Amino acid sequence: MGKDVLIDMRHITKRFPGVVANDQVTFKVQAGEVHALLGENGAGKSTLMSILSGLYRPDEGEIVIRGKRVTLKSPRSAIDHGIGMIHQHFKLITPFTVAENIALGSLDQSFKLDMKKIEQKVAEFSQKFGLHVDPQAKIWQLSIGEQQRVEIIKVLYQGADILILDEPTAVLTPQEVEELFVTVRKMAKEGKAVVIITHKLHEVMNISDRITILRKGKTIRTVAKGEVDTQELTQMMLNREVKTEIHRKPVPKGKAVLTLDKVSALGDKGLKALDDVSLTVREGEILGIAGVAGNGQRELTEVITGLRMATSGKVLIDDQDMTNQSPRMIIDAGVSHVPEDRMGMGLIPNMDVTNNIILKDYRRGSLGKGLLLPLNKAREMAENIVRNFDVKTPSVDTPVRLLSGGNLQKLLLAREIAENPRLIVTSYPIRGLDVGATESIYNLLLHQREQGRAILLIAEDLDTIMKISDRVAVLFKGKVMGLEDTDQATIDDVGAMMLGESPLEGREA
Ligand SMILES: Nc1ncnc2c1ncn2[C@@H]1O[C@H](COP(=O)(O)OP(=O)(O)OP(=O)(O)O)[C@@H](O)[C@H]1O
Ligand SMILES: [Mg+2]
Repeated sequence: MGKDVLIDMRHITKRFPGVVANDQVTFKVQAGEVHALLGENGAGKSTLMSILSGLYRPDEGEIVIRGKRVTLKSPRSAIDHGIGMIHQHFKLITPFTVAENIALGSLDQSFKLDMKKIEQKVAEFSQKFGLHVDPQAKIWQLSIGEQQRVEIIKVLYQGADILILDEPTAVLTPQEVEELFVTVRKMAKEGKAVVIITHKLHEVMNISDRITILRKGKTIRTVAKGEVDTQELTQMMLNREVKTEIHRKPVPKGKAVLTLDKVSALGDKGLKALDDVSLTVREGEILGIAGVAGNGQRELTEVITGLRMATSGKVLIDDQDMTNQSPRMIIDAGVSHVPEDRMGMGLIPNMDVTNNIILKDYRRGSLGKGLLLPLNKAREMAENIVRNFDVKTPSVDTPVRLLSGGNLQKLLLAREIAENPRLIVTSYPIRGLDVGATESIYNLLLHQREQGRAILLIAEDLDTIMKISDRVAVLFKGKVMGLEDTDQATIDDVGAMMLGESPLEGREA
């Protein structure tokens, strides 16, 4: 097609103990294109891109960059070839400024931090690619979207013209996704190449020029976007049909499990993050919390689970006043929590599957009270969970950092559900999950609902919230804007409330 081939990965094979992550993969990237890399959880996408960015060495195969065969020994040598990867977990130093972080990423021979030069460059990137950020700001002061911009600027500053973004939109608000895509388009227009990994097919159809599909470590095909629709993409990824029909059976509602009565709380920066929030979740009910991220969702889950103080109001679990009780007391009252930040709060990366599963027992201290689970019992429990919830892992002795993103999420949810909780609080449970895994998580939650559990579901995708929840509450600037029956409200009503509009007159709140 006359376009320059920048990257040509040929017959790449990468084996890990018990799994062939990449099996004779071929992958080509052209200058000026946005290339989406698609595939189920565990298909080998991150592995392939880690090879391209110098983090892993392939067992077999060769990498040709601009017509020259290369060996990428380290991220440094990948950068020298113009390749920069932005990982899902940012690697910025939060007490430092934007400019300092950029300087640290590119310590050149002189080791001198030329702040003037950096500021000039940041201004240039801001103008050219819409990457607006204040070079003097400290990282901790920035939103997630802004931090991601800093990561992108960092690799651009190092001279990258091939950018790899691993699930960049998973943590962004819809507005931030739009801004990121504007940047991505501008970079492609400048002749840079962008490889983007995402599970969201509408994003693939929106942003990419070409798409490569991996399945079980193998390349299935590379196609131009115009040649396919989302159904065909799903078919190629999974090799089976997925009907994401969500079926919410009528379930009788029991008594209130969670009651919030006029709860207020402060956010990290000392400002009011929750403002007089009143809610109930009953047995057999899923209450969806909709809202643009950053409107009090995280603080809400933290107040319920004892990780943040309520400054006023009451939190009841089954009529018991649990306001400002310790997380341990709240777990004992039957509250399970699947946090937003999987690795930080939920799982310990270097520990194996078994120990991560019994982790909650350590936390609760029950192991110290002479209820120590013998190791074989613990393994058996872990093996059951892995089997019942279809968690893909070589074994229960594998450190969880080696599991793919989707399987981590399943493991976390499975562990919480295995506790037979009264209330499940779950934040963004399908973030980073492929279609198949998404479906199984939804079915898991619906099944829990049928068992009479109460579920508080925080999510960003309105479609989903409306399908899976019995009722939906909208959070806007820490207030509940409206509380509606999902069978009565429309997506438009809820969308309007997310932007701060009051619910329609006459409808009961
Ligand atoms: N460092 C490692 N050691 C052992 N196994 C690994 C390692 N990294 C990845 N794997 C395994 O290789 C396979 C591919 O993983 P990879 O992370 O590349 O998948 P992915 O396509 O990025 O999935 P996801 O969409 O869930 O992020 C998985 O089975 C995973 O468990
Ligand atoms: Mg991955």
